[in-house]
Amino acid sequence: MSDAAQSATPTTPAVTPTAAATFSTVAEGDLTLDDHEALAAMLARTFDSYDHWYAGARSWAGMQPELRVVARDGDVVLAHAGLRRQFVTVGDADVLVTAVGMVAVSPAAQGTGLGAELLRHVDAALERLGSRFGLLETGESVQGFYRRGGWVPLDDVTGGPVTGHYTAFSADGAGVLVSQDEGWLLREVGARAAEWPAGDIRWNGQMV
Ligand SMILES: CC(C)(COP(=O)(O)OP(=O)(O)OC[C@H]1O[C@@H](n2cnc3c(N)ncnc32)[C@H](O)[C@@H]1OP(=O)(O)O)[C@@H](O)C(=O)NCCC(=O)NCCS
Repeated sequence: MSDAAQSATPTTPAVTPTAAATFSTVAEGDLTLDDHEALAAMLARTFDSYDHWYAGARSWAGMQPELRVVARDGDVVLAHAGLRRQFVTVGDADVLVTAVGMVAVSPAAQGTGLGAELLRHVDAALERLGSRFGLLETGESVQGFYRRGGWVPLDDVTGGPVTGHYTAFSADGAGVLVSQDEGWLLREVGARAAEWPAGDIRWNGQMV
């Protein structure tokens, strides 16, 4: 295990000013084993009820991202988001989206503006990946954060509730289909939100 992961895992690191954060956007294939360990340690700290998933160097929960936005202070990971292009079925249409997930700011750095900065870097990464929409699902308690970052609830776009069907994350590898009736958020990239087709979303697999 890397020094960063060793020092970060047992306790939350001391509060670090946002100014100390250096952002980078990294292709999955360029991450080292130490990178994965440091990311997993930070994700386990932030999503503490899922920490058994982020064991060792497993730095993802469902679908493995293709691109990461990472903020670090030295070797310590302060913020992270994972992105992956995926076709999803919406109604009768196949739509290429960039799934965004594992959006996290290390607990000691939360509330300092780092999350907002992270979303700005995610926007740039969405542009780079070139799909027409960013898509994510989140709980009610965090929606305000994404709305401030320019994400729009799909319910508002379509004028009614949107259900998404996806295979749930599972630490032991078993996948069960989940139907989620709320919490879907869209980010315009190369298309207007109004171009989003009507109908249920079928991920046909796991989300990032
Ligand atoms: C959600 C999270 C990424 C936000 O990061 P953060 O660094 O605390 O957020 P910031 O300080 O940059 O806040 C940016 C803006 O969002 C607002 N905001 C932050 N968290 C919010 C929340 N839960 N609900 C509503 N608004 C929120 C802030 O008030 C701020 O608004 P302002 O620009 O008007 O001042 C972070 O709290 C976190 O990692 N939480 C645990 C993991 C999680 O829930 N991730 C999302 C999973 S989908």
